[in-house]
Amino acid sequence: MGIAFDKISQTWSLHTADTSYQMQIGPLGYLLHLYYGRRLDESTEYLHLPRDCGFSPNPYELQDEREWSLDTMPQEYSGSNCGDYRLSSIRIETADGISGADLRVKSWEIRRGKYELEGLPSAYAREDDAETLSVILQDEAAALEVELLYGVFYKQNVITRAVRITNRGSAPLYLDKAASGCLDLPFGEWDLLHFHGRYAVERQAERLPVGNSVLSIGSKRGASSHQHNPFLILCEPSATEDSGECYGAMLAYSGSFRMDVEKDQGGSVRLVAGIHDEGFRWKLEPGAQFSCPELILSYTHRGLTALSHDLHRFIREHICRGIYASRPRPVLLNTWEAAYFDFDGEKILRIAKDAKDLGVELLVMDDGWFGHRDDDRTSLGDWTEDSRKLPGGLESLVEKLHMMGLKAGIWLEPEMVSEDSDLYRKHPDWALIMPGRKPQIGRSQLALDLSRPEVVDYLSEMLSALLQRSGVDYIKWDMNRNLTDLYSSELPPDRQGEIAHRYILGVYTLLDRLTREFPRVLFEGCAGGGGRFDAGMLAYCPQIWCSDNTDPIARLNIQYGTSFGYPPATIGAHISASPNHQTGRTTPLETRFCVATAGAFGYELDPGKLSTEEQETIRKQIRDYHSWQPLLDKGDYWRLTDDRGSFVAWQNLASDRSECLVSLVMREAEANPRPLHLRLKGLDPEAVYVLEEQRFPSGTDIKAMKKRCFTGAALMYAGITLPAMRGDYPCAILYLKIQDEK
Ligand code: GLA
Repeated sequence: MGIAFDKISQTWSLHTADTSYQMQIGPLGYLLHLYYGRRLDESTEYLHLPRDCGFSPNPYELQDEREWSLDTMPQEYSGSNCGDYRLSSIRIETADGISGADLRVKSWEIRRGKYELEGLPSAYAREDDAETLSVILQDEAAALEVELLYGVFYKQNVITRAVRITNRGSAPLYLDKAASGCLDLPFGEWDLLHFHGRYAVERQAERLPVGNSVLSIGSKRGASSHQHNPFLILCEPSATEDSGECYGAMLAYSGSFRMDVEKDQGGSVRLVAGIHDEGFRWKLEPGAQFSCPELILSYTHRGLTALSHDLHRFIREHICRGIYASRPRPVLLNTWEAAYFDFDGEKILRIAKDAKDLGVELLVMDDGWFGHRDDDRTSLGDWTEDSRKLPGGLESLVEKLHMMGLKAGIWLEPEMVSEDSDLYRKHPDWALIMPGRKPQIGRSQLALDLSRPEVVDYLSEMLSALLQRSGVDYIKWDMNRNLTDLYSSELPPDRQGEIAHRYILGVYTLLDRLTREFPRVLFEGCAGGGGRFDAGMLAYCPQIWCSDNTDPIARLNIQYGTSFGYPPATIGAHISASPNHQTGRTTPLETRFCVATAGAFGYELDPGKLSTEEQETIRKQIRDYHSWQPLLDKGDYWRLTDDRGSFVAWQNLASDRSECLVSLVMREAEANPRPLHLRLKGLDPEAVYVLEEQRFPSGTDIKAMKKRCFTGAALMYAGITLPAMRGDYPCAILYLKIQDEK
């Protein structure tokens, strides 16, 4: 049993294989957090000693018990305006203007299986794979009911959390903040590891000590954003890849979010995560309910790599849906960097033929095939093919690609509209614009008001018809600006604070309908590269274009940061031309291959511009990729270095430890180089591994690599020393396989 309730101490224990999470019904029915950490089979209600620390108020009923305060006791879901001055989880205002939430346990229930969230993506499980605890809290005076939901995934060491808020009164009330979860870590010192960035430089890892302040990451952009990712790790300052306590917290949400970490006066650290509260105000009519997005929590005492492995498996098996969640993804070639807007059907077919000849399986026609879109200023919203470019229509192109033995994909940006489009001319009020003001434009485009059901219905019918008639096998679902001018003509003044969240609910409704109706179509998420790379989108799109930056050396840090939370199979990674279009850097084709194999693999170049030798190399790359694909998709990803040294290395290890691919890329050319030494990880120490393949740049002195067989122990404890590699950005790839017993 994953969930147990102890009647005597009034505590719940939520157990996974290696972790326990405990909470207790405390004095006056307050729900106190007790413990989250290594697996424990006894209750920890003895841990938190009430203390009078002055200027921390006491509940009225406790009168002179000055040592008991909500301001000092660990809380499961902090209220507001009720004595806890730390980060609040919820803020409301009643019709009478009373704000505050004083929450106490009303009832609870344990259920088999995993709860679902209406209209929101959330983890799924078979009935036997998860259990749900529902604890209902209430603020009687405000007629407010808050249901805390816990999904316990025993084998995965994951506990999901979500919250449903209901107005049980007879007058409306307003939600001004509604977090998905609150986690108090009452003892110890913690570092915050988070992933920040900008366009083309997403998810850079930054590790900061949690001092006596509030650290806040988030996005107010209407998308989870390039700038911050809705995922963070709290770890011991001494935690490394291989040891130490680590908590991972990831929102399955793609809109504006906020994750705050506060160390309070007593040294206790609190994390509160959920929808961003700035500009948020949700009106709850009597009887109405609001669901907060899911928060995915994981804990390990075995370091950052173990945390990543638990999260990777969880995302692969309980977030990603559809046939491609478990099926190998086709090797694709995307035309964006091959042609930008400069193409027609003939050119696409020429690229497709060349691509097919190399072994590519899916041809994706990127932006520019619809309306009269010769640049990025026009036609979004008019999703019919440009007859100048595709005189035979989309169907005919798709049919020709299919006849070549290729799958066919197209680029779409359904959430947006260009001023120069028939859609905008017909429905100017469908764009997010504030009355009496000129809107902000982003990439010369406006965002559609997806908070309006009629806009969502229009898009889903139009897209369904497009997918139906064209027969495409793949959609790249892009989103190339952030939201501004949040105003919807359909909502009354006191509901305007709902638009950003309703927009994302509209995106989810659309994706939900389309992915259900077209289960064989592979959807790849994108927002100017990785501007919406989150577990919410992954519930519909099992892969997401990680960054518009395809420079393999820049990608090292982007993919390094992304790998902490997200598995390689979800990270779109393509080989592009050299010199690179974003940085101008020249890199070897082998290095571009090496870096792209750490993700959902593909190409982003014109195969017609390759030399015969490069074409031959790419044929071999695709064959190699296929032979390693099960290992890359389903094995575990191990970071072997950090992102700061002269080289970056990682390995993919099969979960039965039978095969291992080691990749290393040099970031700096060094004179008189130091030994290039690596210790592999996670192997079977007793087993003998055969070095079946080793790839170094030509001219490398590989005498040192003569030895072909190593015990797992030798590879892990002594490690291996690779020969020095010269030149710009060389890489090494080693493939090791466990020796056959016979
Ligand atoms: C975004 C995407 C690119 C490409 C362009 C097309 O920037 O991230 O990959 O599809 O749009 O306009």
